[in-house]
Amino acid sequence: MGQDPLSTRLCRALQIDVPIICFTHCREVAAAAHRAGAFPVLGEALRNMEEIERDIRWLRERVGNQFGVDLVLPARAPRQGSVKELAQEIPATHRNFASQVEKKFNVPAPVGNVDLHQWGGNNQKVARDQIQILLEERVPLIATGLGAPEFLFDEARARGIKLVALVGSTRQAIRQIDRGADMVVAQGYDAAGHTGGVGTFSLVPEIVKCAGDVPVVAAGGITTGRHLAAALCLGAVGVWTGTVWLTSKESDVDPIMKKRILASAGEDTTRTNTISGKTMRVLRFPWADEWEQPEAPPVLKSPYQMILTSKYLQGANDARRADLMTEAVGQGVGFLKESFSVGEIVDELAGQARQTLHSLVE
Ligand SMILES: Cc1cc2nc3c(=O)[nH]c(=O)nc-3n(C[C@H](O)[C@H](O)[C@H](O)COP(=O)(O)O)c2cc1C
Repeated sequence: MGQDPLSTRLCRALQIDVPIICFTHCREVAAAAHRAGAFPVLGEALRNMEEIERDIRWLRERVGNQFGVDLVLPARAPRQGSVKELAQEIPATHRNFASQVEKKFNVPAPVGNVDLHQWGGNNQKVARDQIQILLEERVPLIATGLGAPEFLFDEARARGIKLVALVGSTRQAIRQIDRGADMVVAQGYDAAGHTGGVGTFSLVPEIVKCAGDVPVVAAGGITTGRHLAAALCLGAVGVWTGTVWLTSKESDVDPIMKKRILASAGEDTTRTNTISGKTMRVLRFPWADEWEQPEAPPVLKSPYQMILTSKYLQGANDARRADLMTEAVGQGVGFLKESFSVGEIVDELAGQARQTLHSLVE
């Protein structure tokens, strides 16, 4: 047996055994990914300052300095303003339409506070405070989707923090590389969450071609070892994955949602701007279908649309109404048929990728 084909530059840069980055909102999944030899990145965009600080400390106790934190920092969020103030700027036509949808589907009112409001994208002050915590805690790696403020690059560099930019187009990749990103994640159309319009298979080699020495990690639709092998063949140094962890045993996703995800195929996902005002891939759900009807008012820009959606989503989640709920899910979801532990998933991805790559040269 020759050299391990999975021992890539990414493994050396992040000191990991397999070239797999695990994006998750669940710290138990993150810790398990580390134990399995992958690199965890914890999504903290929806968390408040105390929660971010708590999660960083919790994870650091378990994985040392081998982790990253991801924030979503849209450049065009309003500078100031509480959610309450921003909500007052939403036109009555939109508020009425949202109420109609809630009424039509009997969406219960949220039980407590609407957690989804605490998004850095709602307010640049919140985003700055979130970043400040990551800088103060000297998080080893910071990942950002939807761009990043200039000061983050300077301050991260000064503290030796690695910066990773998630991009959905070659143009964005070039911009982030020019600004000094240490690594880019080429996130294709297939991916869960905010995506661009170019598929992973086209996007990855296009970005690899213009990235020079900057490592490119592939994301979007990667749920099997064959996908991992293909990503390396496209020139990526590894993969960045989200959907594949959602149904893991350690994941804190609601069991009724896990069941729905395990029963879903790629075509059960939709790319819609009706949640946040920015296009994202999620499992189909009534809110998106209604806002896409011709009689619906035009979708508002971020963060206003998100403020409207939050009430619906929180009500649906609190009541555990699987028929109303959604989740960010990528097109590779059809390969998930059973719940496995994070360790088993890492072993399966790596094992199948090695087997696939070896079979090419046998
Ligand atoms: C439930 C879920 C939530 C996500 N939220 C974020 C997020 O807050 N920030 C972010 O940069 N990416 C987010 N993503 C996208 C992932 O970072 C990643 O790019 C994507 O999951 C890759 O595609 P895949 O799901 O097909 O593996 C999310 C993905 C999932 C599955």
